[in-house]
Amino acid sequence: MPAFSASAPGKIILFGEHAVVYGRPAIAIPVSQVRARAMVMGEPRLAPASVRIQAVDLGRDAMLDSLPENDPLAAVVRGVFRELGIESPPAFTLRITSTIPQAAGMGSGAAVSVAVIRAVAASLGRPLPDEIVSALAYEVEKLYHGTPSGVDNTVITYAKPVYFVRGQPVQTFQALQPFKIVIGDTGIKSPTVIAVGDLRRLWQENSQRYEPIFDRVGELARLARQAIESGQPWVIGPLMNENHLLLQQMGVSSPELDELVRAARQAGALGAKLSGGGRGGNMIALVSDETDQKVVEALLAASAVRTITTVI
Ligand code: PMV
Repeated sequence: MPAFSASAPGKIILFGEHAVVYGRPAIAIPVSQVRARAMVMGEPRLAPASVRIQAVDLGRDAMLDSLPENDPLAAVVRGVFRELGIESPPAFTLRITSTIPQAAGMGSGAAVSVAVIRAVAASLGRPLPDEIVSALAYEVEKLYHGTPSGVDNTVITYAKPVYFVRGQPVQTFQALQPFKIVIGDTGIKSPTVIAVGDLRRLWQENSQRYEPIFDRVGELARLARQAIESGQPWVIGPLMNENHLLLQQMGVSSPELDELVRAARQAGALGAKLSGGGRGGNMIALVSDETDQKVVEALLAASAVRTITTVI
């Protein structure tokens, strides 16, 4: 078996995190500066079905057989075998590396899944279509997230901006004019499942308070898509600010995120908000060529552990 490799980008959510779980639209974009990679190398000297998973960045080096059903890496490999009806695969080592920050709202789990699915399927001579890749990655997302909306696996599989509505066919779209986003990382690891669960409890107790918030977030996503597609990206700045306010009202921001958002705006960002599950992880800021450097400096001065600048 020759070596097969595949990679998948990270992602950020531009608009609509959390409200997307409740059926409202969200906009997500791939971030190709950070990537997960998977490489499959045949091990002809080992017994058939000996599959070794080596993922140093994720602290894992184990034989597939020894990993439990709910281990996400094992689940993704088993999912591919099941999909392809393979009972006894040839022996191989699967090497996984990733530069995507973990538990930071950048889709690290989904990107690893997508890269693994593509590399393993290709190594078996049976590459899978995007629809199936995304569906298999979604199954694994459930192990990370509990009740994922599916936005992460979708944007990462298609590697294009997506306008995502739960349960609806995938809509990818393009920016008529490029625009620049600075991503600032609080360095605080925050599992999405906790913020999603807390918000669910609040919503169950008082849906009348949260439904209008979700409605408005959905409206912001719709307006933002229009602006991006019609070449007026600067319009999304104020929409990002409003989306952040609504995320604060949902209780998913944090003092650290609020501080980075404030610092970015003060340094000249056209808009800023948290991105992803919240409570920690990343925020994003819309910048121009004149302000991007100032915003990066302001974020680092306000204790961001890392910034990434990306053009959409
Ligand atoms: O993976 P994250 O942290 O970007 O979170 C995904 C966005 C949420 O809307 C909070 C959850 C979901 O499943 O859509």
